Amino acid sequence: MDVLVVDHPLAQTRLTAMRRTETESGVFRASLHELTTMVVYEAARLFAVEKYSIETPVAQTEGTRLANPPLIVPVLRAGLGMADAALGLLPESSMGFVGLARDEETHEPRAYMESLPADLAGQPVLVLDPMLATGGSLLHCCKLLADRGCTDIIICCVLAAPEGVERLASSGLPLRLITASIDEGLNEKAYIVPGLGDAGDRQFGGM
Ligand code: PRP
Ligand code: URA
Repeated sequence: MDVLVVDHPLAQTRLTAMRRTETESGVFRASLHELTTMVVYEAARLFAVEKYSIETPVAQTEGTRLANPPLIVPVLRAGLGMADAALGLLPESSMGFVGLARDEETHEPRAYMESLPADLAGQPVLVLDPMLATGGSLLHCCKLLADRGCTDIIICCVLAAPEGVERLASSGLPLRLITASIDEGLNEKAYIVPGLGDAGDRQFGGM
């Protein structure tokens, strides 16, 4: 699996704001929005483009457009905070949704929502989830996509644990990963260390 870490200084300052305990939810959400713009911008290098004829006020020339805009799939809840920034860069894209909540004891995802096109053959998909911890949630989501025929899945996240990266890489699914950091690892509660805590709670409050 190809993995790209977005180590741009402006990405790292937004990530630092998100990591800090004292950052309140409004700033956390704004930082996630800005960081997502940078991560998706880098991910978009992987998109196929095509040339087409355009006219400037002066002459006819060639323009560029995305050959096949990706379906954007935020993983609820936390991925919702990345959706607006991704759609801002990709206004021609459609959206699907997957809702997952990790069980606090087993750390396995429980699916509670799924709204995806039935056929994803030939359709690139951009999956948004700020956190890749054990990898269970993103693996579940990507299997749903692969079961619908998707062969081109690009995952955008903010923080990844090596354990989760390894789990996705060994899944055999057609995945590429863009993240702002690969952290040290997971603690006994399967939280990313040093991490940023619970990305859903920090955006939207505890359940
Ligand atoms: C978080 C996060 C990922 C998942 C990562 O969601 O947004 O989806 O945990 O953990 P994993 O890699 O071990 O599966 P959570 O289940 O806490 O739900 P939330 O987004 O509603 O807060
Ligand atoms: N989900 C989160 O929100 N944070 C973690 O560190 C791990 C899973």
